[in-house]
Amino acid sequence: MSYRLKKTVVLVGMMGSGKTSVGRELARALEAEFVDSDEEIVRASSYEIPELFSRFGEVYFREKETQVILRLLKGEPRILSTGGGAWMNHANRINITRLGLAVWLKAETNLLWARVKGKSGRPLLATDNPYQTLRELCDSRNPVYARAPVHVAAFSSHSVADTVRRVIDEL
Ligand code: S3P
Repeated sequence: MSYRLKKTVVLVGMMGSGKTSVGRELARALEAEFVDSDEEIVRASSYEIPELFSRFGEVYFREKETQVILRLLKGEPRILSTGGGAWMNHANRINITRLGLAVWLKAETNLLWARVKGKSGRPLLATDNPYQTLRELCDSRNPVYARAPVHVAAFSSHSVADTVRRVIDEL
């Protein structure tokens, strides 16, 4: 598809909402570059995310996340997938709104749970009751994700290709 992105499309939403898989397919469909802020943080630090959290703490991770997102927003327009907590940060919301277009991939909690349960690599879910933690994160974060200018339903009944089409329709 020949489509010229005016701004970087920034996918925001909970862990498991499909930001990375939708982002990759979206980039392919639009012939744009795909970047993922978590992958960039890992590449730059040489630590996986759980290790970054345990060695240096979440505050350190969030600082790196803000720096990486700002750097990625300053390049050519592309598709940027962010970690689930990125849009919770005020500075990130300002930067993303100024330099990109935030798209919230909105998914049901049960779908998120089906995708993340039993998987390691998400330090925020390393609790005694990860399902409850996920529910609480959704409850507190959803009103903040809702401030993104574009909302796209990424429900269990939708395929990745379907969701990509819905995002493209909103651009
Ligand atoms: C986080 C989500 C993760 C990662 C980190 C924190 C969050 O990314 O950035 O574990 O705060 O929700 P994904 O949303 O890609 O899983």
